[in-house]
Amino acid sequence: MYYMSLQNEIDRRRTFGIISHPDAGKTTLTEKLLLFGGAIQEAGAVKSNKIKKGATSDFMEIERQRGISVATSVLAFDYKGIKINILDTPGHKDFAEDTFRTLTAVDSVIVVIDVAKGVEEQTVKLVEVCRMRNIPMIVFINKLDREGKDAFELLDEIEQKLSLKVTPLSFPIGMGYDFKGIYNVWEKNVNLFSGDSRKNIEETIEIEHLDSTQLENLIGDSASITLREELELVHEVYPDFNQDEYLNGTLQPVFFGSALNNFGVRELLDCFIEIAPTPRPKESDTRLVLPNEDDFSGFVFKIHANMDPKHRDRLAFVKIVAGTFKRNTAYLHVRHNKRLKFSSPNAFFAEKKQIVDISYPGDIVGLHDTGNFKIGDTLTQGEVMNYRGVPSFSPEHFKYINNADPLKSKQLEKGIDQLMDEGVAQLFTLELNGRKAIGTVGALQFEVIQYRLEHEYGATCRYENINVFKACWVEPMDPKSTEFIDFKRVKAKFLAKDKRGQLVFFADSSFTLQMTQSKYPNVKLHSVSEFEKTKES
Ligand code: G4P
Repeated sequence: MYYMSLQNEIDRRRTFGIISHPDAGKTTLTEKLLLFGGAIQEAGAVKSNKIKKGATSDFMEIERQRGISVATSVLAFDYKGIKINILDTPGHKDFAEDTFRTLTAVDSVIVVIDVAKGVEEQTVKLVEVCRMRNIPMIVFINKLDREGKDAFELLDEIEQKLSLKVTPLSFPIGMGYDFKGIYNVWEKNVNLFSGDSRKNIEETIEIEHLDSTQLENLIGDSASITLREELELVHEVYPDFNQDEYLNGTLQPVFFGSALNNFGVRELLDCFIEIAPTPRPKESDTRLVLPNEDDFSGFVFKIHANMDPKHRDRLAFVKIVAGTFKRNTAYLHVRHNKRLKFSSPNAFFAEKKQIVDISYPGDIVGLHDTGNFKIGDTLTQGEVMNYRGVPSFSPEHFKYINNADPLKSKQLEKGIDQLMDEGVAQLFTLELNGRKAIGTVGALQFEVIQYRLEHEYGATCRYENINVFKACWVEPMDPKSTEFIDFKRVKAKFLAKDKRGQLVFFADSSFTLQMTQSKYPNVKLHSVSEFEKTKES
Protein backbone atom coordinates (compact mmCIF):
# COMPACT_ATOMS: atom_id res chain seq x y z
CA MET A 1 0.00 0.00 0.00
CA TYR A 2 2.71 2.39 1.02
CA TYR A 3 4.63 1.80 -2.18
CA MET A 4 1.52 2.32 -4.20
CA SER A 5 0.80 5.65 -2.64
CA LEU A 6 4.37 6.94 -2.98
CA GLN A 7 4.39 5.92 -6.64
CA ASN A 8 0.98 7.55 -7.14
CA GLU A 9 2.22 10.77 -5.60
CA ILE A 10 5.28 10.71 -7.87
CA ASP A 11 3.18 10.00 -10.96
CA ARG A 12 0.94 12.96 -10.33
CA ARG A 13 3.70 15.52 -9.93
CA ARG A 14 5.13 17.89 -12.54
CA THR A 15 7.84 20.29 -11.38
CA PHE A 16 8.98 22.81 -13.93
CA GLY A 17 10.28 26.29 -14.56
CA ILE A 18 9.27 28.95 -17.08
CA ILE A 19 12.20 30.68 -18.71
CA SER A 20 12.25 33.68 -21.00
CA HIS A 21 13.90 36.94 -21.82
CA PRO A 22 12.32 39.69 -19.68
CA ASP A 23 8.99 40.94 -21.06
CA ALA A 24 8.25 37.91 -23.22
CA GLY A 25 5.31 37.11 -20.93
CA LYS A 26 6.53 34.70 -18.25
CA THR A 27 4.59 36.37 -15.43
CA THR A 28 1.43 36.61 -17.50
CA LEU A 29 1.64 32.96 -18.52
CA THR A 30 2.28 31.86 -14.92
CA GLU A 31 -0.78 33.78 -13.85
CA LYS A 32 -3.00 32.20 -16.48
CA LEU A 33 -1.78 28.74 -15.51
CA LEU A 34 -2.70 29.50 -11.90
CA LEU A 35 -6.12 30.68 -13.04
CA PHE A 36 -6.72 27.34 -14.73
CA GLY A 37 -5.69 25.55 -11.58
CA GLY A 38 -8.24 27.62 -9.66
CA ALA A 39 -5.35 28.69 -7.44
CA ILE A 40 -6.14 32.36 -7.97
CA GLN A 41 -9.43 34.00 -8.81
CA GLU A 42 -8.50 36.92 -10.97
CA ALA A 43 -5.84 38.20 -13.29
CA GLY A 44 -3.30 40.54 -11.74
CA ALA A 45 -3.00 38.47 -8.58
CA VAL A 46 0.52 37.29 -9.25
CA LYS A 47 2.89 40.10 -8.64
CA SER A 48 5.69 40.49 -11.06
CA ASN A 49 9.06 39.78 -9.55
CA LYS A 50 10.70 41.77 -12.25
CA ILE A 51 13.24 44.31 -11.28
CA LYS A 52 12.02 47.19 -13.32
CA LYS A 53 14.45 49.01 -15.49
CA GLY A 54 15.95 51.96 -13.67
CA ALA A 55 15.55 50.35 -10.26
CA THR A 56 19.29 49.84 -10.01
CA SER A 57 19.89 52.20 -7.15
CA ASP A 58 16.49 52.09 -5.57
CA PHE A 59 17.13 49.90 -2.56
CA MET A 60 13.60 49.89 -1.31
CA GLU A 61 12.59 48.58 -4.68
CA ILE A 62 15.17 45.81 -4.42
CA GLU A 63 13.89 44.91 -0.96
CA ARG A 64 10.32 44.93 -2.15
CA GLN A 65 11.21 42.70 -5.05
CA ARG A 66 13.03 40.37 -2.71
CA GLY A 67 9.84 40.03 -0.69
CA ILE A 68 7.83 39.24 -3.77
CA SER A 69 10.34 36.76 -5.00
CA VAL A 70 10.03 34.74 -1.77
CA ALA A 71 6.29 34.61 -2.29
CA THR A 72 6.59 33.49 -5.88
CA SER A 73 9.58 31.17 -5.46
CA VAL A 74 7.36 28.14 -5.79
CA LEU A 75 3.80 28.25 -7.04
CA ALA A 76 1.93 25.01 -6.60
CA PHE A 77 -1.56 24.03 -7.65
CA ASP A 78 -3.67 21.07 -8.70
CA TYR A 79 -5.05 20.71 -12.19
CA LYS A 80 -7.04 17.66 -13.29
CA GLY A 81 -5.59 15.66 -10.42
CA ILE A 82 -2.00 16.63 -11.26
CA LYS A 83 0.09 18.50 -8.69
CA ILE A 84 1.95 21.21 -10.53
CA ASN A 85 4.97 22.97 -9.00
CA ILE A 86 6.21 26.02 -10.89
CA LEU A 87 9.64 27.18 -9.77
CA ASP A 88 10.20 30.85 -10.34
CA THR A 89 13.25 31.93 -12.30
CA PRO A 90 14.25 35.60 -12.24
CA GLY A 91 14.42 37.03 -15.73
CA HIS A 92 16.76 39.91 -14.86
CA LYS A 93 20.21 39.09 -16.13
CA ASP A 94 21.95 40.20 -12.94
CA PHE A 95 20.19 37.33 -11.21
CA ALA A 96 20.95 34.75 -13.90
CA GLU A 97 22.92 32.65 -11.47
CA ASP A 98 19.78 32.18 -9.33
CA THR A 99 18.01 31.00 -12.42
CA PHE A 100 20.78 28.56 -13.35
CA ARG A 101 20.62 27.05 -9.88
CA THR A 102 16.85 26.78 -9.94
CA LEU A 103 17.15 24.87 -13.20
CA THR A 104 18.91 22.09 -11.26
CA ALA A 105 15.64 21.52 -9.40
CA VAL A 106 13.19 21.38 -12.32
CA ASP A 107 12.18 18.29 -14.24
CA SER A 108 11.23 20.24 -17.36
CA VAL A 109 10.84 23.80 -18.63
CA ILE A 110 8.55 25.94 -20.75
CA VAL A 111 10.39 28.52 -22.85
CA VAL A 112 8.38 31.67 -23.62
CA ILE A 113 9.26 33.59 -26.78
CA ASP A 114 7.82 36.90 -27.96
CA VAL A 115 6.39 36.51 -31.48
CA ALA A 116 7.73 39.91 -32.54
CA LYS A 117 11.13 39.80 -30.89
CA GLY A 118 11.91 36.17 -31.52
CA VAL A 119 14.85 34.55 -29.78
CA GLU A 120 16.52 37.03 -27.41
CA GLU A 121 19.79 37.05 -25.48
CA GLN A 122 18.60 35.62 -22.15
CA THR A 123 16.63 32.91 -23.93
CA VAL A 124 19.81 31.77 -25.65
CA LYS A 125 21.75 31.52 -22.38
CA LEU A 126 19.04 29.75 -20.42
CA VAL A 127 18.13 27.31 -23.16
CA GLU A 128 21.79 26.41 -23.51
CA VAL A 129 21.92 25.39 -19.85
CA CYS A 130 18.77 23.28 -20.29
CA ARG A 131 20.09 21.71 -23.46
CA MET A 132 23.36 20.75 -21.80
CA ARG A 133 21.40 18.96 -19.09
CA ASN A 134 18.92 17.38 -21.50
CA ILE A 135 16.00 19.00 -19.71
CA PRO A 136 12.78 18.46 -21.66
CA MET A 137 11.55 21.77 -23.09
CA ILE A 138 8.26 22.98 -24.52
CA VAL A 139 8.32 26.29 -26.43
CA PHE A 140 5.42 28.73 -26.14
CA ILE A 141 5.37 31.51 -28.72
CA ASN A 142 3.47 34.36 -27.11
CA LYS A 143 1.66 37.57 -28.12
CA LEU A 144 0.04 36.22 -31.29
CA ASP A 145 -2.51 39.03 -30.99
CA ARG A 146 0.29 41.35 -32.09
CA GLU A 147 2.05 41.64 -35.40
CA GLY A 148 5.11 39.48 -35.33
CA LYS A 149 7.39 37.29 -37.32
CA ASP A 150 6.11 34.64 -39.67
CA ALA A 151 5.58 31.28 -37.92
CA PHE A 152 8.01 29.38 -40.16
CA GLU A 153 10.62 32.09 -39.81
CA LEU A 154 10.31 31.83 -36.03
CA LEU A 155 10.56 28.06 -35.98
CA ASP A 156 13.65 28.40 -38.12
CA GLU A 157 15.15 31.01 -35.81
CA ILE A 158 14.50 28.77 -32.79
CA GLU A 159 16.27 25.88 -34.49
CA GLN A 160 19.20 28.02 -35.58
CA LYS A 161 19.80 30.22 -32.56
CA LEU A 162 18.85 27.73 -29.85
CA SER A 163 20.14 24.60 -31.60
CA LEU A 164 16.85 22.82 -30.99
CA LYS A 165 14.85 20.41 -33.10
CA VAL A 166 11.25 21.56 -33.04
CA THR A 167 7.85 20.22 -33.94
CA PRO A 168 4.80 22.52 -33.79
CA LEU A 169 1.90 21.04 -31.84
CA SER A 170 -0.27 24.03 -32.60
CA PHE A 171 -0.26 26.46 -35.51
CA PRO A 172 -1.51 30.03 -35.79
CA ILE A 173 -4.24 31.04 -38.20
CA GLY A 174 -3.18 34.54 -39.16
CA MET A 175 -1.48 36.91 -36.79
CA GLY A 176 -1.84 40.32 -35.20
CA TYR A 177 -4.75 42.20 -36.74
CA ASP A 178 -5.67 39.13 -38.79
CA PHE A 179 -5.25 36.64 -35.99
CA LYS A 180 -8.17 34.24 -36.26
CA GLY A 181 -7.16 31.49 -33.93
CA ILE A 182 -5.11 28.38 -33.57
CA TYR A 183 -5.19 24.94 -35.12
CA ASN A 184 -4.28 22.44 -32.46
CA VAL A 185 -2.21 19.70 -34.08
CA TRP A 186 -2.10 17.75 -30.83
CA GLU A 187 -5.86 17.68 -30.21
CA LYS A 188 -6.92 18.18 -33.84
CA ASN A 189 -9.28 21.06 -33.23
CA VAL A 190 -9.58 24.76 -33.92
CA ASN A 191 -9.79 27.54 -31.36
CA LEU A 192 -11.25 30.77 -32.57
CA PHE A 193 -9.85 33.98 -31.18
CA SER A 194 -12.43 36.41 -29.92
CA GLY A 195 -9.97 38.92 -28.48
CA ASP A 196 -12.00 38.99 -25.33
CA SER A 197 -9.54 38.53 -22.49
CA ARG A 198 -12.31 38.28 -19.94
CA LYS A 199 -13.30 34.91 -21.29
CA ASN A 200 -11.33 32.35 -19.38
CA ILE A 201 -11.83 29.45 -21.69
CA GLU A 202 -12.21 30.04 -25.37
CA GLU A 203 -14.46 28.04 -27.59
CA THR A 204 -12.92 24.87 -28.98
CA ILE A 205 -14.29 23.47 -32.17
CA GLU A 206 -13.46 19.93 -33.15
CA ILE A 207 -12.53 19.52 -36.80
CA GLU A 208 -12.99 15.99 -38.02
CA HIS A 209 -10.90 16.41 -41.10
CA LEU A 210 -8.85 19.32 -42.33
CA ASP A 211 -10.42 19.00 -45.78
CA SER A 212 -13.93 19.42 -44.47
CA THR A 213 -15.77 22.58 -45.46
CA GLN A 214 -16.35 23.11 -41.77
CA LEU A 215 -13.03 24.94 -41.84
CA GLU A 216 -14.20 27.39 -44.52
CA ASN A 217 -17.29 28.09 -42.49
CA LEU A 218 -15.22 28.91 -39.47
CA ILE A 219 -12.33 30.96 -40.80
CA GLY A 220 -13.22 31.79 -44.37
CA ASP A 221 -11.91 30.60 -47.76
CA SER A 222 -8.52 32.19 -48.03
CA ALA A 223 -7.46 31.48 -44.42
CA SER A 224 -8.52 27.86 -44.90
CA ILE A 225 -6.40 27.47 -48.00
CA THR A 226 -3.39 29.04 -46.31
CA LEU A 227 -3.82 26.92 -43.19
CA ARG A 228 -4.02 23.69 -45.18
CA GLU A 229 -0.90 24.62 -47.15
CA GLU A 230 0.99 25.59 -44.04
CA LEU A 231 0.03 22.43 -42.19
CA GLU A 232 1.15 20.35 -45.14
CA LEU A 233 4.48 22.12 -45.04
CA VAL A 234 4.69 21.54 -41.28
CA HIS A 235 4.07 17.87 -41.90
CA GLU A 236 6.78 17.72 -44.57
CA VAL A 237 9.43 19.76 -42.80
CA TYR A 238 9.08 18.86 -39.12
CA PRO A 239 9.28 15.45 -37.49
CA ASP A 240 6.22 13.94 -35.85
CA PHE A 241 6.03 14.43 -32.13
CA ASN A 242 7.69 11.62 -30.22
CA GLN A 243 7.47 11.64 -26.44
CA ASP A 244 10.71 9.77 -25.84
CA GLU A 245 12.63 12.31 -27.89
CA TYR A 246 10.98 15.13 -25.98
CA LEU A 247 11.85 13.48 -22.66
CA ASN A 248 15.46 12.96 -23.76
CA GLY A 249 15.70 16.62 -24.63
CA THR A 250 16.20 15.96 -28.35
CA LEU A 251 12.83 17.23 -29.66
CA GLN A 252 10.96 20.34 -28.55
CA PRO A 253 7.22 20.75 -29.16
CA VAL A 254 6.08 24.29 -29.94
CA PHE A 255 2.78 25.98 -29.07
CA PHE A 256 1.45 29.35 -30.19
CA GLY A 257 -0.86 31.61 -28.21
CA SER A 258 -1.46 34.79 -26.33
CA ALA A 259 -1.00 34.60 -22.58
CA LEU A 260 -2.57 38.00 -22.01
CA ASN A 261 -5.70 36.93 -23.84
CA ASN A 262 -5.65 33.53 -22.20
CA PHE A 263 -5.49 32.04 -25.63
CA GLY A 264 -3.75 28.76 -26.35
CA VAL A 265 -2.86 28.42 -22.69
CA ARG A 266 -5.31 25.63 -21.88
CA GLU A 267 -3.98 23.61 -24.84
CA LEU A 268 -0.46 24.11 -23.58
CA LEU A 269 -1.38 23.02 -20.05
CA ASP A 270 -3.40 19.99 -21.15
CA CYS A 271 -0.60 18.76 -23.35
CA PHE A 272 1.96 19.59 -20.68
CA ILE A 273 0.37 17.41 -17.99
CA GLU A 274 0.16 14.57 -20.47
CA ILE A 275 3.70 14.61 -21.82
CA ALA A 276 5.89 16.39 -19.23
CA PRO A 277 8.09 14.19 -17.05
CA THR A 278 7.27 13.13 -13.52
CA PRO A 279 10.11 13.72 -11.01
CA ARG A 280 13.25 12.33 -12.57
CA PRO A 281 16.03 10.19 -11.06
CA LYS A 282 19.10 12.17 -10.03
CA GLU A 283 22.79 11.36 -10.02
CA SER A 284 24.69 11.64 -6.72
CA ASP A 285 28.42 11.21 -6.24
CA THR A 286 27.91 7.55 -5.37
CA ARG A 287 24.93 6.38 -7.42
CA LEU A 288 21.78 7.18 -9.35
CA VAL A 289 18.89 7.87 -6.95
CA LEU A 290 15.36 6.93 -7.99
CA PRO A 291 12.34 8.91 -6.80
CA ASN A 292 10.44 5.85 -5.57
CA GLU A 293 13.11 4.78 -3.11
CA ASP A 294 11.93 4.41 0.48
CA ASP A 295 14.51 6.70 2.01
CA PHE A 296 14.18 10.43 1.74
CA SER A 297 16.88 12.51 0.07
CA GLY A 298 17.01 15.97 -1.42
CA PHE A 299 19.21 19.01 -1.98
CA VAL A 300 19.24 22.76 -1.34
CA PHE A 301 19.03 24.82 -4.54
CA LYS A 302 18.14 28.19 -3.12
CA ILE A 303 18.45 30.08 0.15
CA HIS A 304 16.42 33.11 0.96
CA ALA A 305 17.18 35.48 3.80
CA ASN A 306 14.36 36.46 6.06
CA MET A 307 12.87 39.81 5.26
CA ASP A 308 12.81 40.74 8.91
CA PRO A 309 16.29 41.84 10.00
CA LYS A 310 15.44 41.12 13.65
CA HIS A 311 15.13 37.42 12.97
CA ARG A 312 18.11 36.39 11.05
CA ASP A 313 16.77 33.05 9.97
CA ARG A 314 16.65 32.01 6.41
CA LEU A 315 14.54 29.75 4.29
CA ALA A 316 16.41 26.96 2.53
CA PHE A 317 14.56 25.54 -0.47
CA VAL A 318 14.98 21.79 -0.73
CA LYS A 319 13.96 19.78 -3.77
CA ILE A 320 12.82 16.33 -2.74
CA VAL A 321 14.47 13.78 -5.01
CA ALA A 322 13.42 10.50 -3.37
CA GLY A 323 11.20 9.08 -0.64
CA THR A 324 8.94 11.08 1.65
CA PHE A 325 10.01 14.06 3.69
CA LYS A 326 8.34 14.11 7.09
CA ARG A 327 8.02 16.85 9.64
CA ASN A 328 9.94 16.43 12.95
CA THR A 329 12.12 13.66 11.59
CA ALA A 330 15.89 13.78 12.01
CA TYR A 331 17.66 13.87 8.66
CA LEU A 332 21.35 13.77 7.92
CA HIS A 333 22.97 16.98 6.77
CA VAL A 334 25.75 15.27 4.88
CA ARG A 335 28.30 18.10 4.69
CA HIS A 336 28.17 18.72 8.45
CA ASN A 337 27.59 15.04 9.30
CA LYS A 338 24.89 16.24 11.65
CA ARG A 339 21.27 15.23 12.21
CA LEU A 340 18.72 18.02 11.86
CA LYS A 341 15.00 18.04 12.60
CA PHE A 342 12.49 20.45 11.14
CA SER A 343 9.41 21.30 13.12
CA SER A 344 7.84 23.65 10.62
CA PRO A 345 8.70 22.78 7.03
CA ASN A 346 6.86 25.01 4.59
CA ALA A 347 5.14 23.83 1.48
CA PHE A 348 3.92 26.26 -1.13
CA PHE A 349 0.42 26.58 -2.46
CA ALA A 350 -0.22 29.22 -5.06
CA GLU A 351 1.18 32.24 -3.26
CA LYS A 352 0.84 30.94 0.28
CA LYS A 353 3.21 29.08 2.51
CA GLN A 354 1.87 26.43 4.81
CA ILE A 355 3.39 24.00 7.31
CA VAL A 356 3.15 20.44 6.02
CA ASP A 357 3.64 17.05 7.62
CA ILE A 358 4.68 15.19 4.54
CA SER A 359 6.06 16.01 1.07
CA TYR A 360 6.89 13.87 -1.94
CA PRO A 361 9.47 13.74 -4.74
CA GLY A 362 9.11 16.74 -7.02
CA ASP A 363 7.92 18.92 -4.16
CA ILE A 364 9.87 21.79 -2.70
CA VAL A 365 9.98 22.31 1.05
CA GLY A 366 11.15 25.53 2.64
CA LEU A 367 13.20 24.83 5.78
CA HIS A 368 13.94 27.45 8.40
CA ASP A 369 17.65 27.65 8.87
CA THR A 370 19.89 29.60 11.17
CA GLY A 371 23.05 29.12 9.15
CA ASN A 372 23.48 25.38 8.62
CA PHE A 373 22.74 25.35 4.94
CA LYS A 374 24.65 26.32 1.89
CA ILE A 375 23.49 26.03 -1.70
CA GLY A 376 24.17 22.54 -3.02
CA ASP A 377 23.88 20.78 0.39
CA THR A 378 22.36 17.32 0.52
CA LEU A 379 19.94 15.96 3.14
CA THR A 380 19.34 12.22 3.46
CA GLN A 381 17.78 9.70 5.75
CA GLY A 382 21.28 8.55 6.72
CA GLU A 383 23.12 7.63 3.56
CA VAL A 384 26.36 9.49 2.96
CA MET A 385 26.11 10.86 -0.57
CA ASN A 386 26.02 14.23 -2.27
CA TYR A 387 23.92 15.42 -5.15
CA ARG A 388 25.92 17.00 -7.88
CA GLY A 389 25.17 19.57 -10.44
CA VAL A 390 24.60 22.83 -8.57
CA PRO A 391 27.47 24.72 -10.15
CA SER A 392 29.18 28.03 -9.54
CA PHE A 393 29.74 30.10 -12.63
CA SER A 394 32.61 32.42 -13.19
CA PRO A 395 31.43 35.83 -12.02
CA GLU A 396 31.63 38.71 -14.45
CA HIS A 397 32.19 41.63 -12.09
CA PHE A 398 34.85 41.83 -9.40
CA LYS A 399 35.72 44.22 -6.59
CA TYR A 400 37.90 44.16 -3.49
CA ILE A 401 35.77 44.39 -0.40
CA ASN A 402 37.19 46.36 2.54
CA ASN A 403 35.89 46.87 6.04
CA ALA A 404 34.89 50.50 6.55
CA ASP A 405 34.30 50.23 10.29
CA PRO A 406 37.08 48.49 12.27
CA LEU A 407 34.75 47.97 15.25
CA LYS A 408 32.41 45.89 13.18
CA SER A 409 34.77 43.42 11.57
CA LYS A 410 33.04 40.39 13.15
CA GLN A 411 29.68 41.53 11.81
CA LEU A 412 31.16 42.10 8.37
CA GLU A 413 32.72 38.67 8.31
CA LYS A 414 29.52 36.96 9.37
CA GLY A 415 27.45 38.99 6.93
CA ILE A 416 29.71 38.22 4.01
CA ASP A 417 29.81 34.57 4.99
CA GLN A 418 26.04 34.22 5.09
CA LEU A 419 25.38 36.22 1.94
CA MET A 420 27.86 33.99 0.09
CA ASP A 421 26.07 30.86 1.40
CA GLU A 422 22.88 32.31 0.00
CA GLY A 423 24.60 32.50 -3.36
CA VAL A 424 24.34 36.29 -3.74
CA ALA A 425 27.99 36.44 -4.84
CA GLN A 426 31.26 34.57 -4.55
CA LEU A 427 34.12 35.38 -2.24
CA PHE A 428 37.76 34.92 -3.21
CA THR A 429 40.84 35.31 -1.02
CA LEU A 430 43.98 36.33 -2.84
CA GLU A 431 46.90 33.98 -2.25
CA LEU A 432 49.51 36.71 -2.22
CA ASN A 433 48.16 39.16 0.32
CA GLY A 434 45.04 37.57 1.82
CA ARG A 435 42.80 40.37 0.50
CA LYS A 436 39.17 39.55 -0.10
CA ALA A 437 37.50 40.05 -3.46
CA ILE A 438 33.86 39.58 -4.35
CA GLY A 439 32.68 38.35 -7.72
CA THR A 440 29.13 38.70 -9.00
CA VAL A 441 27.19 37.89 -12.11
CA GLY A 442 25.54 41.30 -12.27
CA ALA A 443 26.63 44.77 -11.21
CA LEU A 444 23.46 45.19 -9.16
CA GLN A 445 24.64 42.66 -6.58
CA PHE A 446 27.36 44.97 -5.22
CA GLU A 447 24.75 47.44 -4.15
CA VAL A 448 22.50 44.72 -2.79
CA ILE A 449 25.39 43.33 -0.72
CA GLN A 450 26.40 46.72 0.64
CA TYR A 451 22.82 47.53 1.54
CA ARG A 452 22.12 44.19 3.17
CA LEU A 453 25.39 44.15 5.13
CA GLU A 454 24.41 47.46 6.61
CA HIS A 455 20.75 46.71 7.28
CA GLU A 456 20.93 43.10 8.34
CA TYR A 457 24.37 42.87 9.93
CA GLY A 458 25.18 46.43 10.96
CA ALA A 459 28.43 46.34 8.99
CA THR A 460 29.78 48.78 6.46
CA CYS A 461 31.98 47.92 3.54
CA ARG A 462 33.86 49.80 0.86
CA TYR A 463 34.65 48.51 -2.59
CA GLU A 464 37.83 48.98 -4.52
CA ASN A 465 38.27 48.26 -8.17
CA ILE A 466 40.20 45.24 -9.30
CA ASN A 467 40.97 44.43 -12.87
CA VAL A 468 39.65 40.92 -13.41
CA PHE A 469 37.96 39.69 -16.55
CA LYS A 470 37.17 36.17 -15.42
CA ALA A 471 37.84 33.84 -12.52
CA CYS A 472 38.62 30.30 -13.60
CA TRP A 473 38.82 27.22 -11.45
CA VAL A 474 42.23 25.60 -11.75
CA GLU A 475 42.57 21.88 -12.23
CA PRO A 476 46.11 20.58 -12.63
CA MET A 477 46.32 17.26 -14.46
CA ASP A 478 49.22 16.46 -12.15
CA PRO A 479 49.57 18.62 -9.03
CA LYS A 480 53.25 17.60 -8.69
CA SER A 481 54.25 18.44 -12.25
CA THR A 482 56.83 21.13 -12.89
CA GLU A 483 54.30 22.72 -15.22
CA PHE A 484 51.87 23.29 -12.36
CA ILE A 485 54.60 24.44 -9.97
CA ASP A 486 55.78 26.84 -12.65
CA PHE A 487 52.21 28.07 -13.23
CA LYS A 488 51.76 28.78 -9.52
CA ARG A 489 55.04 30.67 -9.32
CA VAL A 490 54.56 32.78 -12.45
CA LYS A 491 50.90 33.54 -11.80
CA ALA A 492 51.18 33.94 -8.01
CA LYS A 493 49.81 37.49 -8.17
CA PHE A 494 46.65 36.29 -9.90
CA LEU A 495 45.76 33.28 -7.80
CA ALA A 496 43.05 33.12 -5.19
CA LYS A 497 41.06 30.55 -3.24
CA ASP A 498 37.29 30.36 -3.39
CA LYS A 499 35.19 29.70 -0.30
CA ARG A 500 35.70 25.98 -0.57
CA GLY A 501 39.45 26.33 -0.79
CA GLN A 502 39.62 25.59 -4.51
CA LEU A 503 42.30 27.36 -6.46
CA VAL A 504 41.11 30.08 -8.84
CA PHE A 505 42.98 32.01 -11.50
CA PHE A 506 42.10 35.68 -12.09
CA ALA A 507 42.56 36.56 -15.76
CA ASP A 508 42.58 40.26 -16.59
CA SER A 509 41.52 39.76 -20.21
CA SER A 510 40.34 37.07 -22.56
CA PHE A 511 43.73 37.35 -24.25
CA THR A 512 45.54 36.53 -20.99
CA LEU A 513 43.20 33.65 -20.45
CA GLN A 514 43.93 32.17 -23.86
CA MET A 515 47.66 32.72 -23.57
CA THR A 516 47.79 31.16 -20.13
CA GLN A 517 45.80 28.14 -21.19
CA SER A 518 48.02 27.53 -24.20
CA LYS A 519 51.20 28.03 -22.21
CA TYR A 520 50.05 25.59 -19.51
CA PRO A 521 47.96 23.02 -21.40
CA ASN A 522 48.00 20.56 -18.49
CA VAL A 523 46.60 23.07 -16.02
CA LYS A 524 42.93 23.18 -16.93
CA LEU A 525 41.11 26.49 -16.46
CA HIS A 526 37.35 25.98 -15.99
CA SER A 527 34.70 28.68 -16.11
CA VAL A 528 32.19 26.53 -14.21
CA SER A 529 32.78 24.74 -10.93
CA GLU A 530 30.68 21.85 -9.81
CA PHE A 531 30.45 21.70 -6.03
CA GLU A 532 33.12 19.17 -5.14
CA LYS A 533 31.62 18.36 -1.79
CA THR A 534 33.75 15.26 -1.32
CA LYS A 535 36.78 17.47 -0.93
CA GLU A 536 35.21 19.58 1.78
CA SER A 537 35.94 19.28 5.43
P1 G4P B 1 7.91 38.73 -18.14
O1 G4P B 1 7.39 38.17 -16.86
O2 G4P B 1 8.39 37.68 -19.09
O3 G4P B 1 8.93 39.79 -17.98
O4 G4P B 1 6.70 39.41 -18.93
P2 G4P B 1 5.26 39.87 -18.44
O5 G4P B 1 4.38 38.69 -18.23
O6 G4P B 1 5.39 40.84 -17.33
O7 G4P B 1 4.76 40.58 -19.77
C1 G4P B 1 5.45 41.68 -20.33
C2 G4P B 1 4.47 42.58 -21.04
O8 G4P B 1 3.89 41.85 -22.13
C3 G4P B 1 3.32 43.02 -20.16
O9 G4P B 1 2.93 44.31 -20.57
C4 G4P B 1 2.21 42.05 -20.53
O10 G4P B 1 0.93 42.55 -20.29
C5 G4P B 1 2.47 41.87 -22.01
N1 G4P B 1 1.95 40.59 -22.55
C6 G4P B 1 2.04 39.35 -22.03
N2 G4P B 1 1.42 38.45 -22.83
C7 G4P B 1 0.91 39.14 -23.86
C8 G4P B 1 0.13 38.77 -25.01
O11 G4P B 1 -0.20 37.62 -25.23
N3 G4P B 1 -0.21 39.78 -25.87
C9 G4P B 1 0.14 41.08 -25.66
N4 G4P B 1 -0.24 41.97 -26.55
N5 G4P B 1 0.86 41.47 -24.59
C10 G4P B 1 1.24 40.51 -23.70
P3 G4P B 1 3.47 45.63 -19.88
O12 G4P B 1 2.69 46.75 -20.44
O13 G4P B 1 4.95 45.69 -19.97
O14 G4P B 1 3.20 45.37 -18.39
P4 G4P B 1 1.89 45.62 -17.58
O15 G4P B 1 1.92 47.07 -17.30
O16 G4P B 1 0.75 45.18 -18.45
O17 G4P B 1 2.09 44.75 -16.38
